[in-house]
This record gives sequence, structure tokens and C-alpha cells, in this order.
Amino acid sequence: PLVPVTELLKKAEEGKYAVGAFNVNNMEIVQAILAAAEAEKAPVIMQASQGAIKYAGIEYIFTLANLAASQATVPVALHLDHGTSFEQCMKCIRVGFSSVMIDGSKLPLEENIALTNRVLDVARATGVSVEAELGKIGGTEDDIHVDEKDAFFTDPEEARYFVEKTGVDSLAIAIGTAHGQYKGVPKLDFARLEKIAGLVNIPIVLHGSSGVPDEAVQQAISLGVRKVNIDTNIREAFVYACRQVIEKDAKEIDPRKVLGPAREAATQVIREKIRVFGSSGKA
Ligand code: G3H
Ligand code: 13P
Ligand code: ZN
Ligand code: NA
Repeated sequence: PLVPVTELLKKAEEGKYAVGAFNVNNMEIVQAILAAAEAEKAPVIMQASQGAIKYAGIEYIFTLANLAASQATVPVALHLDHGTSFEQCMKCIRVGFSSVMIDGSKLPLEENIALTNRVLDVARATGVSVEAELGKIGGTEDDIHVDEKDAFFTDPEEARYFVEKTGVDSLAIAIGTAHGQYKGVPKLDFARLEKIAGLVNIPIVLHGSSGVPDEAVQQAISLGVRKVNIDTNIREAFVYACRQVIEKDAKEIDPRKVLGPAREAATQVIREKIRVFGSSGKA
């Protein structure tokens, strides 16, 4: 069965490593994540974004991930990524997700706290884990300048207050990462991460981790990051592999001949990430 993320992150905290959270959008990616986790004997988190829900639907994603978990010898969790409302979190909990993120980061602090607490009330009663977000994680379009970053990055004191007022299970923070591909090399604010980790006693989540150099990810893990989100690197591997097949033979019409190599390419990328995060052999 699907396991709560809290359980995986508790062990990660004990072992000082991070669990990979990989975005799923279709059967091939679900299979790639499971194959990678099995090959690495690693605990793993599958997560569904707003785009994934729109594309595949909550029930399809749940059924695919649940089937993967039932076949797995490693622990598998299914998490809602950037949940947009109380109602969406409830729907995922009802369907059987083992974890949800309620992303109230665009709200004023007290409203983010209130919304997170509403979700926590139900999640606690059902054994589901809850991730919240504080600060603004960039998108590819955002150009965050150094002089503006205090307004965007997570404030350590605010993080301490937020965790005290919610008791949330894990916290996504903004320290310089962004979703999607980076234009240059991202610079992470490790001093800020260290401060936050010293003030909150829960696992920290790093979003936008595709494109962050391995050494930087590992430094973030050494400072308290326990869940690392990867989507873009999977998309890149998947689509490049599809393109390669089609470029080689423009007459190929068998979807399996296109998607099979894409699934294999995604598996390799995920295995590499699992090794970087230190979760290899931790299942
Ligand atoms: O949370 C961000 C994901 O990386 C991408 O989301 O599937 O809604 O485009 P999307
Ligand atoms: P990337 O697409 O940059 O890997 O970010 C993924 C993410 O943070 C999902 O929540
Ligand atoms: Zn994210
Ligand atoms: Na990124």
C-alpha cells in the first residue's frame, strides 16, 4: 500500500539523506519511477501536479501509483504537488493519496496558516501527511534579483512561527530555486536554509531541483532538506528520447517504439537522482 510521506522523511532525517519526489503524468513515468526505486532499493515519492491532474485525472494517477506500490518491494508514497485548495486536498485524500501539499504561499501569512490548519485537521484524522509552503519559489519567467530576494525568499523567523502555529509535517521553502529549466546556474541561499533548519524541527522540502548542480543539492541535504522535487529533468529525458526515435525513423508509427526508450531514459535519470540524494539502499 501507499505509505505516508512523513514516515519516509522521518527515516531520512535519521539517516541524513533525502527522498526523491518525482512528478508523474502517465503510465510510463510511474513505471520508470518504480523501476528506478527498485533498482536502487530506495524509498520513493510519486507526486501529481496541477498539470498532471488536468492531463490524466486524479483517479488515473491514483490507480497507476497504487498499482505500482502494490507491486513494489520498496516504500512508495503518492503526494499531491502544489495543492491549490482545501477542496482539492480533500478530493485527493478521499481517492487515497498518502500525502498532500497545500500551497498557500500566495496568501498572507495568517491566511496560509489558517488554510494549512484546515487541511491538517482532516489529514490527521486519516493518516495523510501534509506539506505547506512559505515564500515564493520562482517560475522560469521570474527573474529574482538579489535586492528583491528578501521579499521572495522564506523568512526564517516567519518559518518558525508558521510551524509553531500549524504543526505541519514538512515545509517547502524558497531559497533561490525555480520550477522549470534555469537560464543560468541557480545560486542557493545556504545561510538562509541553515537558519530555517535551526528554527524548525520538521523536514524541509526543496522544489525546483531539476537543474540545480548535484553538489548544491547535496549541500542542501546536509543542511536539512529531506524531500527533493524533480520534474523538469524527467520531462527532458523523456521527450529527448522520443525525439531521437522519431528523428532516426520519421516513419515510426508504433507508440511503444517511441515511449519505451523514453521510459528507459526516465528510469536512468531517476536512478542518478536517487544516488545523489543518498537514498539508494535505504528501502
Ligand atoms: O509543480 C510544478 C511542476 O513541476 C509542473 O507543473 O505539471 O502543472 O506544469 P505542471
Ligand atoms: P522542477 O521541474 O524544476 O524539477 O521542479 C519540480 C517541483 O518542484 C515540483 O513541485
Ligand atoms: Zn514545486
Ligand atoms: Na528547476
